[in-house]
Amino acid sequence: MRYVIVGTGNISSTYVNALSALPESTLVGAVSRAGRALKVAPEIPVWPTLGAVDSAFDAVILATPNGLHHQGAIEAASLGKHVLTEKPLDISIEAMDRMTEACRTAGVMLAVCFQRRTRPDNQAVKALVAKGAFGRIYAVDLAAKFYRDQSYYDSGDYRGGLALDGGGPFMQQACHNLDIYTWLFGLPRQIVSMLETFAHAIEAEDHGAALMRHEDGMIGTVVASTAAKPGFAARMEVHTERGSFTLTDDVITQWDVDGVENPSVPGEHYHHDGATSAAVTDTSAHEAIIEDFEAAVRENREPLAGPDSARKTTELILDIYKHRLR
Ligand SMILES: NC(=O)c1ccc[n+]([C@@H]2O[C@H](COP(=O)([O-])OP(=O)(O)OC[C@H]3O[C@@H](n4cnc5c(N)ncnc54)[C@H](OP(=O)(O)O)[C@@H]3O)[C@@H](O)[C@H]2O)c1
Repeated sequence: MRYVIVGTGNISSTYVNALSALPESTLVGAVSRAGRALKVAPEIPVWPTLGAVDSAFDAVILATPNGLHHQGAIEAASLGKHVLTEKPLDISIEAMDRMTEACRTAGVMLAVCFQRRTRPDNQAVKALVAKGAFGRIYAVDLAAKFYRDQSYYDSGDYRGGLALDGGGPFMQQACHNLDIYTWLFGLPRQIVSMLETFAHAIEAEDHGAALMRHEDGMIGTVVASTAAKPGFAARMEVHTERGSFTLTDDVITQWDVDGVENPSVPGEHYHHDGATSAAVTDTSAHEAIIEDFEAAVRENREPLAGPDSARKTTELILDIYKHRLR
């Protein structure tokens, strides 16, 4: 597929490198408001808007701030181009529904880069949950305790703001972990949360905790932070009728489940920058998302993270914000 990427910031470099590792995929150009060249591929042509692109292309990658994804998707759909957007789908229900509808009406694919869904241990756990292999799931405790210094927030005037980032670590960094939570266990029916801004001059929270109750009684907890210096690997601890297991940065690191063999895929390694940095230097999971996106277009099937399932992740985050205790 031939791609145009919109946005020339941090994550655009991950796409340049991921696309160059995929022989069937080509980056033909970039869209930059500022006429800025891509940092790691300055030779790639740049246009000011998608409508101005005068090379042939099949799909658009949206690498713009969270709250602009719907605009890019709606514009791409009006041009008949498939859309792979960075996470989250968008930051409001209305925006997500508008972009989904625009892509459906235009008959183009819409997929979200929730690249952790491609990680083999997450997929193995997903298959076991779907089979009911754990019996009753009692509790899931998620800790996404990361660190960003003030210079991260100062690197974009929208960062940590509600208008375009849509929130702090729940919407931005822990979005990936909450996506895996929702993908595996669904949405809760009851939420309470507490949020605080401890360490940064930003509008949104930089630390918070939520307590969630699911329809079947399962109790979830999540702590999300960018104030937890020095930044820690993300942990998800799952307690079930048959025993417990732990995923640390998407790898099974503890498994004590009666009658179910540890499905961890040996030798898998993925370098995570997320505890301390916005950069994504290991491009393999982005490559897997791009390959799935292209296969979904070819086979006319749902992508691994389509709009309906990705929408749930934003829904959960918005509910965590909405049910904040003051
Ligand atoms: N999947 C992952 O692991 C991962 C990791 C990091 C980020 N992300 C996601 O990727 C997206 C971009 O994040 P990023 O870290 O690359 O952000 P960034 O460094 O700020 O880059 C965003 C780019 O969007 C363009 N843009 C267009 N309108 C803008 C506006 N009003 N304000 C600011 N920038 C605007 C800018 O490029 P021009 O000035 O050239 O137009 C800017 O460089 C976000 O949705 C984020 O959640 C995903």
